[in-house]
Amino acid sequence: MNKTKLMILVSVGSAVVTVLITALLVNIFERKSEERTPFYRVVEITDETDDPAVWGKNFPHQYDSYLRTADMRRTKYGGSEAFPHVPTDKDPRTHVSVQKLDEDPRLRTMWDGYAFSKDFREERGHAYMLVDQIFTLRQEAAQQPGACLNCHASTYNLYKKLGDGDIVKGFNEMNKIPYKDIVHSVSHPVSCIDCHDPSTMALRVTRPAFMEGIKLVKAKQGIKEYDVNTMASRQEMRSFVCGQCHVEYYFKGPEKRLTYPWDKGLKADEILAVYRENGHKDWVHAQTGAEVLKAQHPEFEMFNQGTHARAGVACVDCHMPYQRIGAMKITDHQVQSPLLNINKACQTCHNVPEAELMGRAQTIQDRHIQLRDLAFDALIDYINDLKEFKEIDLVKTPHEKLRAARSLQREAQFLFDFVEAENSSGFHAPQESARVLALSIEKVREGQKIVAELRAEKTAKK
Ligand code: HEC
Ligand code: HEC
Ligand code: HEC
Ligand code: HEC
Ligand code: HEC
Repeated sequence: MNKTKLMILVSVGSAVVTVLITALLVNIFERKSEERTPFYRVVEITDETDDPAVWGKNFPHQYDSYLRTADMRRTKYGGSEAFPHVPTDKDPRTHVSVQKLDEDPRLRTMWDGYAFSKDFREERGHAYMLVDQIFTLRQEAAQQPGACLNCHASTYNLYKKLGDGDIVKGFNEMNKIPYKDIVHSVSHPVSCIDCHDPSTMALRVTRPAFMEGIKLVKAKQGIKEYDVNTMASRQEMRSFVCGQCHVEYYFKGPEKRLTYPWDKGLKADEILAVYRENGHKDWVHAQTGAEVLKAQHPEFEMFNQGTHARAGVACVDCHMPYQRIGAMKITDHQVQSPLLNINKACQTCHNVPEAELMGRAQTIQDRHIQLRDLAFDALIDYINDLKEFKEIDLVKTPHEKLRAARSLQREAQFLFDFVEAENSSGFHAPQESARVLALSIEKVREGQKIVAELRAEKTAKK
């Protein structure tokens, strides 16, 4: 190679590099300015504005996508499907989602004696959270407390009103008021004000139950006096805003205080250990007399045990991914199943074709459902085993073996229900879900050994 040729090559080479660097800088600059996308304050929004339509005047794109949480589309195991409902005076809804109790009648057996055995539908978009809570038949089956509202409405202003500006005080008040007496004080499903500070638009946590719960979790990690709104990282907040509602909970004491049982950690067995210590029960099982528990939607807890959480991915990365609108990059406020939106929800991180990503997710879910069905059959068998001892009252006639057998139903059932109530069908943490189902099956196995002994005792007596 002669000198001139080399010179030409070098200068062409450096020109290419310069062009590349310039392109990169332009790109970075564009992204930076997008991050600071200016917005025009058409209207004044204060810390009292809870109507999302008013916020929507300043942020029309976010508002448009927020309204689309009313869309209903099914995936193999998730999403939701609209079934027509003839409106009545009692229940004016024109469509509802599928009745899960009909899809899988084993649920009725598991929850026999509890309001959940009367009505339990597939969950759907945020737009429906308030109406679905008002019109569920569970409202008729039992007197519900105001505490239910914490996760089904825009409650930030109501807390402030009831607590004279102090949201924790207002929260304490709201919990104990009967649902029917307080529901008229709210008017929107979760709204902008529940997730955003109106002056900066920064994310914020507004639910006292989560503030207290996450404080316990952080204390266990050695972080003292954790204050979520000043100490959480931005990426953490992108999961914490969801963890305010998508969690296991119970109502503590006669004040019906909404509580997240995270004293010992976020895993199913750690939560069960809390209930073992405090003796909390949700109801007495109608077929067996066991004092049992109902687990509810622990997406936050379960997700935290999975690979994605470990890798620092947040709920919002998949459920509210960035979306391009012209030159702007905004957060898609149509919170939905990511499997309806694989391109934006997954392919930003996984350089894999859409069909392949769908295949991977569904393989995890198919295997999960198979294991879930096996564990469910085992639990139902065990409930059937315990029926013949139902009439024995342990207060009048103490019987240690029967007490242990009923307690194993309580534990097996809670562990199973924890996985069942988690709405990702195994996706959020496949191996953890499998581990918890195996623990449930183990409790049934232990219980069935005791039942064999109880039956032997019975025949010996005859
Ligand atoms: C890596 C992506 C990813 C992350 C991060 C993630 N999820 Fe999911 N989530 C999914 C997938 C996939 C499904 C299954 C959807 C389906 O079956 O249609 C799902 C399902 C759900 C569902 C049920 C939705 C439905 O349509 O049935 C809820 C609720 C949910 N996730 C909440 C959360 C919460 C809360 C967090 C954070 C604590 C979170 N997810 C984090 C991917 C993710
Ligand atoms: C800690 C937050 C929280 C509290 C408190 C809460 N919910 Fe929910 N609720 C949710 C979440 C999250 C979903 C969606 C996930 C699911 O359905 O599993 C949901 C779904 C529902 C649904 C729709 C699906 C179904 O079960 O038919 C109804 C109805 C409902 N809740 C009623 C109630 C009632 C009644 C109370 C009070 C006893 C209550 N909720 C308290 C968070 C909560
Ligand atoms: C104020 C409580 C609350 C907060 C905060 C909340 N959710 Fe929900 N979410 C609910 C309730 C309640 C439902 C069920 C509504 C129904 O079935 O009527 C639900 C439903 C969902 C669904 C099911 C949608 C479908 O089409 O099936 C997904 C997915 C979901 N939420 C994810 C999230 C994510 C991600 C976040 C955080 C960005 C979040 N939620 C924040 C209460 C909440
Ligand atoms: C369930 C919680 C939640 C609700 C309700 C909510 N947002 Fe957001 N919003 C988010 C999250 C999460 C982000 C991403 C923030 C981040 O990455 O720091 C966001 C980002 C934004 C941003 C910043 C720009 C962008 O798009 O990323 C604006 C503006 C915004 N939201 C407006 C609204 C408006 C208007 C409403 C009501 C119509 C609303 N939000 C309701 C959670 C919520
Ligand atoms: C913000 C980035 C990000 C997003 C968004 C994301 N992933 Fe991942 N995913 C990861 C990382 C990181 C890992 C861990 C493995 C690794 O380091 O490559 C992972 C692992 C996985 C795994 C194997 C782990 C397991 O749990 O079995 C599957 C399957 C997967 N992702 C599917 C999906 C699907 C489907 C979506 C969309 C719903 C998605 N991912 C969205 C970053 C992401």
